[in-house]
Amino acid sequence: MGIGIKNTKNGYGSIAIFLHWLMAVLIIALIILGLYMVKLPDVGFNIQKIVLILWHKEVGMVVLALASVRLGWRLNNIIPIYRPMFLSGKNLLPDASI
Ligand code: HEM
Repeated sequence: MGIGIKNTKNGYGSIAIFLHWLMAVLIIALIILGLYMVKLPDVGFNIQKIVLILWHKEVGMVVLALASVRLGWRLNNIIPIYRPMFLSGKNLLPDASI
């Protein structure tokens, strides 16, 4: 069974998965860039540093915008049934036999 665009009760659709991983990559990039920025020496006016900060702000605002897109997508889609993926074999939950 392939993955559709929208979520189904059996799993997330391609848009939700794409938004999830896009935000994951951007947030990790922001953290790495932010930590790098604050380590740079304070040398007064420095074009390279300013460019990095502008990129950081830009990506930060994109992440904020994407968060609302994601929220909107989530509110307008079915949420798949929760199934713990890492418990192979016997499920520890009481309703596992259903
Ligand atoms: C999810 C992670 C992050 C997001 C979404 C984010 C987002 C942003 C945004 C939108 C701004 C602009 C704020 C403004 O202009 O008032 C900003 C500024 C800044 N961020 Fe981040 N940030 C993140 C992580 C980090 C981390 C981990 C650090 C460093 C430890 C960091 C360091 C900074 C600094 C130093 C500025 C100010 C730059 C300036 O002087 O204008 N950020 N960030």
